[in-house]
Amino acid sequence: MINIQKAAVIGCGFVGASIAYTLMQKGIFSELVLIDAVMEKAEGEAMDISHGLPFAHAMDIYAGTYADIADASILIITAGANQKEGETRLDLVQKNAGIMRSIIGNIRKTAFDGLLLIVSNPVDILTEVALRESGYPEERVIGSGTVLDTARLKYLISEELEIDSRNVHAFIVGEHGDSELAVWSCANIYGIPVEKFAELRRQKGFSEEMKEIYCSVRDSAYEIIKRKGATYYGIGMAAAKIAEALVRDSHTVAPVSVHLNGEYGLQDLCLSIPTVLGKNGAEQILEINFNEEEKRKLWHSAEELKKILARI
Ligand code: NAD
Ligand code: LAC
Repeated sequence: MINIQKAAVIGCGFVGASIAYTLMQKGIFSELVLIDAVMEKAEGEAMDISHGLPFAHAMDIYAGTYADIADASILIITAGANQKEGETRLDLVQKNAGIMRSIIGNIRKTAFDGLLLIVSNPVDILTEVALRESGYPEERVIGSGTVLDTARLKYLISEELEIDSRNVHAFIVGEHGDSELAVWSCANIYGIPVEKFAELRRQKGFSEEMKEIYCSVRDSAYEIIKRKGATYYGIGMAAAKIAEALVRDSHTVAPVSVHLNGEYGLQDLCLSIPTVLGKNGAEQILEINFNEEEKRKLWHSAEELKKILARI
């Protein structure tokens, strides 16, 4: 029997701990299990995060094992190596695919029947690995995909146009990585197409800034890793938001990594496409009318991922 109030985070490094910390503040769950290959790491994070509970919501956060997850509604997997300076996400694939397989093997030994949210990189490849290894229905295995990149895009547009980022509707699709693309044809501010809005707001065009913003989004992780060694707060917020949409059954649209079966002419891989999220997981993958250039870029991104999938 699934306990909708219970979640687990597997991998308690920078990212897992940030997600757990964000979940604690949001008060979505009443029970959160932390699992790590290094038990003391999970214990330390559980202790530290629990000390914030008097300032937030009553809940139980503890270091556990796979014996504790059978009734959880969602498992958030962040275990695995992160990029070092100069590495791409795809460089992590062999090591992290092995870790993902062993984690899914452990999960399958339990009666777990909930949703998997994959965050470890390369997230699109590892979501596909998790799906194949678990044998779960496709809608139950979701990657955090380009939800973080989409937040970066909204933030950078909002900074450029000096507008609240919550008024910005724009998104990134494709690989969470170097081949991702911005769907500018759908980008708008309060319903006003982004280029028109830029003219309204500051009486000048936006096309040069759009190119620069896309490159900054794509390269954000490299820039942060160069300065502080890892990224974790943004993904902490992004993953918690996805988990919230799923367990609250809110039918939120978000560009998560999902398995495609012919949508956009693509199949047999996971990549990010705006998807309706609810208690059953990825409830509907939206087929949007992208323009020809966007379609070409999406196919290119899929090709890059397929090359990696063929090698693992
Ligand atoms: P980290 O090195 O700080 O933490 C990784 C943790 O995984 C460690 O605590 C380690 O002990 C644990 N671990 C390793 N193997 C394990 C196993 N088999 N079972 C359980 N735990 C295991 O790394 P991090 O900075 O937290 O990054 C974690 C992953 O998240 C990386 O792959 C990183 O690239 C990825 N990431 C993804 C996004 C995204 O948007 N999808 C954003 C940031 C980071
Ligand atoms: C990110 C990670 C590294 O911050 O995937 O985009």
